[in-house]
Amino acid sequence: MAKEELVRFGILGAGSIALFRHALELSQNPYAKLVAVYDPIKSRAEYLSSLYHVPVVDSEEAIINNKNIDAVCVCTPNSEHARLTIACLKAGKDVLCEKPMATNLEDASKMILTAEKLGRKLMIGHNQCLMSPHLKAKKLLQEGVIGKVMTFRTAFGHGGPETWSQDKGPHTWFFKKEKAYVGCMGDLGVHKCYLIPWLLGTDIVEAASFVATMDKKNEKGKPITVDDNAVCILKMSDGVLGQLTASWTYYGPEDNITTIYGTEGRMILGANPDYPVEVYLKNGEVQKYKVGAVATNTVQVKSGIPDLFVDCILDDIKPPFDGIKGYKALAAVVACLESNETGKICKVHNELMPVKVDAAPAVAKKASVPAKKAPGKKAPIKKAVAKKAPTKKAAPAKKAVTKKVPFKKTAKKK
Ligand SMILES: NC(=O)c1ccc[n+]([C@@H]2O[C@H](COP(=O)([O-])OP(=O)(O)OC[C@H]3O[C@@H](n4cnc5c(N)ncnc54)[C@H](O)[C@@H]3O)[C@@H](O)[C@H]2O)c1
Repeated sequence: MAKEELVRFGILGAGSIALFRHALELSQNPYAKLVAVYDPIKSRAEYLSSLYHVPVVDSEEAIINNKNIDAVCVCTPNSEHARLTIACLKAGKDVLCEKPMATNLEDASKMILTAEKLGRKLMIGHNQCLMSPHLKAKKLLQEGVIGKVMTFRTAFGHGGPETWSQDKGPHTWFFKKEKAYVGCMGDLGVHKCYLIPWLLGTDIVEAASFVATMDKKNEKGKPITVDDNAVCILKMSDGVLGQLTASWTYYGPEDNITTIYGTEGRMILGANPDYPVEVYLKNGEVQKYKVGAVATNTVQVKSGIPDLFVDCILDDIKPPFDGIKGYKALAAVVACLESNETGKICKVHNELMPVKVDAAPAVAKKASVPAKKAPGKKAPIKKAVAKKAPTKKAAPAKKAVTKKVPFKKTAKKK
């Protein structure tokens, strides 16, 4: 796609992440146009529509089969991610799917392989990496400021998703295994299973963990069917050791603190609101950086994720937050759950599963109904693109997000 063209988006799911991130940030992007939103709870789609002026449609198919849509944000409960992502990819759309990318490694593999086979883009909404303190930390680590990393400690916890989700209260889908698959470990732990390998440049290869349900109750007053606390020990591919905790029972302020210990000192991220990156060196030197905040559920800051996805489509770049990294983060979560179940240290399955992929175009149906093939048609590899240049807003010469991302691949074409 040439730069003067627009990426036309559909949104599946009009819950909190669509409202506060995807629709909001796409509505502010001069290269994106919101074309349609669908949510089975129509009032939610209508509310999103009232804020961002995007037409409401009555079915998933009205987005998946809409030839005027180039890309789709999948913002539904976890159990719907793989089915909808694959249907959109097969219909010739690029997909920005929320995390965790799927509820099992087979489905995640199918998502990646379908995108690859059809030449479509798949990005997973792992926004932690774009937060300023984490970007700064990656740079400092690459510069070797704390020497060779040996160990780390990372936490992600808050008081639970029942106040965030549009399903407010104990009946939220986040608490139900059949919709969520995993609790705080998949909601919050997966962010850190993504962030740590991204910061350190290595993979998580082994995990030992305790994963439990300690406090959260469902609408019947019974313990929820997914975890609300996880305490994990991780081993990285270069031998670095670390601790990861995820929790939905850290009542009070959100805890998103990471400490990385190296041969020359330590780096603390997200602990000090005034200086979200602090470095304490062995030689007594202290470095403190004011680099913007780590976002919380209550104080959202612009994630940059939808903007980055738009850039990747327009500049035809492989998304840096791709399916493979999302898969590895999910694989680490799976290993933590397995370790808890077996009482053993478990290997992380970082290789894709040997799945068969049917890359023929299909019409999306509910999971129980076999996908119907469109007669005699091939998946459109090249999208029909909008020929219209953005008229409402003047296109900025450079967008901030591309400056912030320390990947060569995301650099704008000059
Ligand atoms: N990246 C992040 O930081 C972050 C933060 C919060 C949530 N998330 C992820 O975003 C996803 C959505 O979470 P949320 O907080 O918006 O939840 P939510 O409960 O607020 O909203 C989910 C919406 O999806 C709708 N839905 C259900 N099935 C659908 C279908 N088949 N098609 C279209 N819509 C459907 C529901 O009716 C609901 O309105 C989850 O996977 C979650 O893990 C990511």
